[in-house]
Amino acid sequence: MPIILGIESTCDETAAAVVVDGTRVLSNVIASQIDLHAKYRGVVPEIASRAHIENILPVIREAIATAGVTMPQLDAIAVAHRPGLIGSLLIGVTAAKTMAWALGKPLLAVDHVQAHLYSILLKADQEAPDAHSGLRFPAIGMVCSGGHTALYRISSWSDIQMIGSTIDDAVGEAYDKVAAILGLGYPGGPIIDRLAADGDANAVKFPRTLLDRDSLDFSFSGLKTAVLYHVRGVPSRRDPQATKPAPTQAEVTDIAASFQSACIDVILKKLRRATDQFDARCILIGGGVSANRGLRAALVNFPVPVHFPPLAYCTDNAAMIAGLGDVQYRAGNFASLELDAITYSQFRR
Ligand code: KG4
Ligand code: ZN
Repeated sequence: MPIILGIESTCDETAAAVVVDGTRVLSNVIASQIDLHAKYRGVVPEIASRAHIENILPVIREAIATAGVTMPQLDAIAVAHRPGLIGSLLIGVTAAKTMAWALGKPLLAVDHVQAHLYSILLKADQEAPDAHSGLRFPAIGMVCSGGHTALYRISSWSDIQMIGSTIDDAVGEAYDKVAAILGLGYPGGPIIDRLAADGDANAVKFPRTLLDRDSLDFSFSGLKTAVLYHVRGVPSRRDPQATKPAPTQAEVTDIAASFQSACIDVILKKLRRATDQFDARCILIGGGVSANRGLRAALVNFPVPVHFPPLAYCTDNAAMIAGLGDVQYRAGNFASLELDAITYSQFRR
């Protein structure tokens, strides 16, 4: 039963976790930077890198101590080396390489986005047996987070192919930007999720962008702009600043519900397309937006079983990195100490 240390620093969370046997989470430590970035209503890369430097060693130490293991007992060090912000990634990758070299343990290079899909298999150490025994391949994986909206065909945990992705904003990014337009806090997803439960989803007919008939790609920037124009008015020559009065609280609630309904409609439609095109036997959904209550409710009667991660593992964490690292460890798929960090833009190319 391999004991793997996972390290995650792709964006604004410094995280480390110890996972046994690919699924049993012995510790899952996350130093969130939300407070540092909240006033900018988004992640500031330079601030993120600095905070990672301060947090990385205490977080790793705490993960190992909480797990009740010693460093020599670790079988390997897994690190998320792509995709992410370059300054952020380098902190985790450097820490992982240093530990692998100093301890003489294998280094495992894990794709952060694929790891979000794996998070459905994670469970706390004392938890009951596997709730996802119905997992069948081929599966369609969907990662919907602040940085990514992508669909994957999963033939096995070592064969994951991307089949579609966003051509502009990620869905979580749209949530965060719409929350900013509505004057709500950051991150916007959970706030809009809460408001949407009390609003009228049919109050405003926002666009559902589906692209070509068979397309598995996404586009959310039109929806975001539609919300902006609805709230501030459409800029014109006479009124370039589009100065509409601010919406009332009741209107904000209805806009949140209508926006969320548009996002969910698009996601459902794309999941149906992907399921049909690839004869999928189940769906796995991960990433921050997979915590969304409206989305979970809308998928209850989906034609094939839909698996979500436990809420604790929806947003960025290192347990999912250690978990997918376990698959690579068993396959003997080790990374060299020359491992590079790969940014979002290099990844999308
Ligand atoms: O996976 P994650 O922690 O980080 C990335 O890899 O991007 O996802 C963060 C994103 C944020 O955009 C946040 O607003 C969104 O997930 N989010 C939600 C909910 N909880 C977090 N979006 C919708 N509904 C939620 N309940
Ligand atoms: Zn993520």
